[in-house]
Amino acid sequence: MTYQETYSHSLNNPQDFWAQAAQDIDWYQPWEQVLDDSNAPFYKWFSGAKLNTCYNALDRHINNGLANQTALIYDSPVGSVKKKFTFRQLRDEVALLAGVLRDMGVNKGDRVVIYMPMIPETTMAMLACARIGAIHSVVFGGFAADQLADRINDAQPKVILSASCGIEVNKLIDYKSLLDSAIEQAHYKPEHCLIFQRPQMPVSMIDGRDIDWQQACSQSHAVDCVPVAATDPLYILYTSGTTGNPKGVVRDNGGHAVAMLWSMRNVYNLKAGDVFWAASDVGWVVGHSYIVYAPLLNATTTVLYEGKPVGTPDPGAFWRVIEEHKVTVLFTAPTAFRAIKKEDPKGEYLKNYTLKHFRTLFLAGERCDPDTLHWAEDLLHVPVIDHWWQTETSWAIVANCLGIEALPIKAGSPTKSVPGYDVQVLNDQGEQVAKGSIGNIVIKLPMPPGCLMTLWNNDQGFVDAYMSRYSGYYLTGDAGYADEDDYLWIMSRIDDVINVAGHRLSTGAFEEVLASHPDVAECAVIGVADKLKGEVPLGLVVLKSGVTQANDTIIQELIQLVREKIGPVAAFKQAMIIERLPKTRSGKILRATMRCIADNTAYKIPATIDDPAILDEIKTALKVLGYGLNRNS
Ligand code: COA
Ligand code: AMP
Repeated sequence: MTYQETYSHSLNNPQDFWAQAAQDIDWYQPWEQVLDDSNAPFYKWFSGAKLNTCYNALDRHINNGLANQTALIYDSPVGSVKKKFTFRQLRDEVALLAGVLRDMGVNKGDRVVIYMPMIPETTMAMLACARIGAIHSVVFGGFAADQLADRINDAQPKVILSASCGIEVNKLIDYKSLLDSAIEQAHYKPEHCLIFQRPQMPVSMIDGRDIDWQQACSQSHAVDCVPVAATDPLYILYTSGTTGNPKGVVRDNGGHAVAMLWSMRNVYNLKAGDVFWAASDVGWVVGHSYIVYAPLLNATTTVLYEGKPVGTPDPGAFWRVIEEHKVTVLFTAPTAFRAIKKEDPKGEYLKNYTLKHFRTLFLAGERCDPDTLHWAEDLLHVPVIDHWWQTETSWAIVANCLGIEALPIKAGSPTKSVPGYDVQVLNDQGEQVAKGSIGNIVIKLPMPPGCLMTLWNNDQGFVDAYMSRYSGYYLTGDAGYADEDDYLWIMSRIDDVINVAGHRLSTGAFEEVLASHPDVAECAVIGVADKLKGEVPLGLVVLKSGVTQANDTIIQELIQLVREKIGPVAAFKQAMIIERLPKTRSGKILRATMRCIADNTAYKIPATIDDPAILDEIKTALKVLGYGLNRNS
């Protein structure tokens, strides 16, 4: 079938389309309804059905004769380790860990927070939760203790799984101290913590609370898969929204398994035995979907890489991994390629490697600039496929579905709507805009399987954030347009979310932290263009009158405060003190206008501006930091 035929089938008869896709998953009990729309916008896929996601990712392949096929390749240049796990080995480790969780009192529906580095045990932890029907919530290691505390309070985990340390290039990150501090701050306390001791940094345990991971596993017993409802949550993953409070995206078991498997074959064109490498982190949705669940569900070997594109040890790191592990498809963020290009613009390091198994490069997480896309194409001589999606959906909304039909590539566009997604572009009145005109990108309900069910403990927040702007549509938060050929072009966010090196962060969260400094009267944080990371945050701060501290001291304190409260991943390294902020007459801060000034792009002075002269003050101030001069062009 062509792309167009497949796409039409998915929209004209979604129930039939997804029921067919669901045949590729093993169910303990079939569904009563493919799609239950009785409580829209809370749609339920495969209601009445029972399955186990871990069974489908591991045990099923063993039962189908793939026990000795490699399931997971762990490659850690920073830890100097390489290790392979067959499906049987991975299943056995996961079943033992599930036994440990059971002994710690974890049962179906209990939450388990996972705060861990990129080691195989993190993947095992997720699958062990799935095995017993517990709901995992992985928190990215680059977040500070405060962020972890917020997530502990919201998810209320019975236990937390962590490791003694992470390794960031050449420095050790003391995860255990971050964990201890988060638990101290949180008002909700977990019963136990299971700590994986890494040889690089063994840590001491808190009596009565902490349990040694390796010791517990050595005394454990294997536990079998527990059938769960297709509509039971598999995981909660927190993501940034407009406010400082993270939103707990809830993913189901059944719809997710079906969507993951379908996407592996139809979007990425991968089969059992291929080697797939998603160079991301398990703390992000890309890691959940494409390091852990999707490849394993498809019996595709997955690569877990604990390293960076550059510096571990050089910009040839990706080529080394691709060659050594016979990777067929790599998925990463454009920023990783910009980092390689910066250090090795001519691709000299590639000459040391032969990528004879390598077929395709997929990029997502942020807008892929055509320069980076063409650089990667010229270097690698394989198709470079941009695709657009979000934490909320767990898989691509717009892509070039290579498993169906390879469409012509237009640099700068992620191509067309993926089957299952009715993507539309609306104006503020809710009317479809003309081709080529920019509007708010929405998805007509129902969305396909795999998309968020709700926000954890916050049904109203789910409706408010996504479903209330346009009745019957999901608001993606991105603006863009469709061209004459129905290719989508994703241009910018419509909210206060910024994208730093493919990591989604809320400017509201930064502003809350800056405003908590005793000398700050008011502030605004904007995302400004950055050659490497796409965007970086920049703080504009107005001080209270009578402040005597030197500006430089205050700026250093603000930078440190963001590191402590949000984490190093926020990459907050620049702030400036100004006399006043530009506002509308009703008091709304003109962030978008300041962003245009910083990036030296065209803007209109808003008619409602309180005092236009202030924009000149902002221009002068930004110039001091080198902004407004086309520094990134
Ligand atoms: N645990 C603890 N700290 C972490 C961390 C983790 N898992 N991940 C990142 N950090 C820290 C880094 O050590 C760094 O701290 P520093 O300020 O003390 O140096 C900070 O967070 C920023 O890290 P990072 O975003 O990795 O930036 P970088 O400047 O060190 O490297 C790139 C730049 C482009 C190489 C890097 O961003 C990268 O590899 N990006 C890939 C994109 C990606 O995976 N995106 C995920 C979505 S697909
Ligand atoms: P996250 O939920 O962290 O994956 O971030 C999702 C957001 O990242 C999207 O809403 C977009 O703003 C941006 N994004 C992701 N992929 C792309 C892409 N291919 N092109 C443009 N923006 C993207």
